Amino acid sequence: MDMNKKEEVLKRANFILQDGVKNRDSLFHTLVMSSLSNGEIESRVMVLREFNEKNRTLRFHSDYRSNKIKELKKDNKTTVIGYDPNLKVQIRLIGETKVNYRNEHTKKSWESSQSISKKCYSVKVGSSAQIENPKDVDFDIESINVEDGYKNFCTLNFNYSVLEFLYLQRSGHRRCRFSWNLRDEVESLWLVP
Ligand SMILES: Cc1cc2nc3c(=O)[nH]c(=O)nc-3n(C[C@H](O)[C@H](O)[C@H](O)COP(=O)(O)O)c2cc1C
Repeated sequence: MDMNKKEEVLKRANFILQDGVKNRDSLFHTLVMSSLSNGEIESRVMVLREFNEKNRTLRFHSDYRSNKIKELKKDNKTTVIGYDPNLKVQIRLIGETKVNYRNEHTKKSWESSQSISKKCYSVKVGSSAQIENPKDVDFDIESINVEDGYKNFCTLNFNYSVLEFLYLQRSGHRRCRFSWNLRDEVESLWLVP
């Protein structure tokens, strides 16, 4: 792959994000998402569930009761970043997140989730709630109906308008920024790494 050609750089970024969905060994399987909470930046690790190159979207799953959902509903500006030292690649994405709750999107994602993933959404009190004793929210998958967790399940549809790719190599790093306008036209720039 020729990292001196912008179209090859974008192809590589798209390949890495697609691979991150299924490949648990890729560090792009768990990305860091940042958003605003009362004017402060909050970051958290999230599992990448789906990547759509054409729509420029990433899908994540979360507990509807968590802080990030309340905050994203107030301000949906979001950045997502990942770095894999094996690939020597950092991908930084800037965009907006839409929260899906109890609609056809969440239904489809819930139906394709495994029981072990569904289990987390059955926890009595929601993610981010304060508790007296951490053991109070431990439970056994046998003792619950995992399907009850659907009422707490939501999906996050992150749509980016900027993708920045940084590749570290001895002979010279490569940094390229792609930006899409509202008509889906892309502009790309080389930047000093
Ligand atoms: C490896 C890993 C994967 C995680 N995956 C998710 C995830 O897919 N969805 C999610 O909501 N939280 C996930 N978390 C937990 C979040 O990082 C975070 O602690 C939690 O969602 C509460 O964040 P909030 O207070 O910003 O809402 C994951 C944490 C780790 C360490």
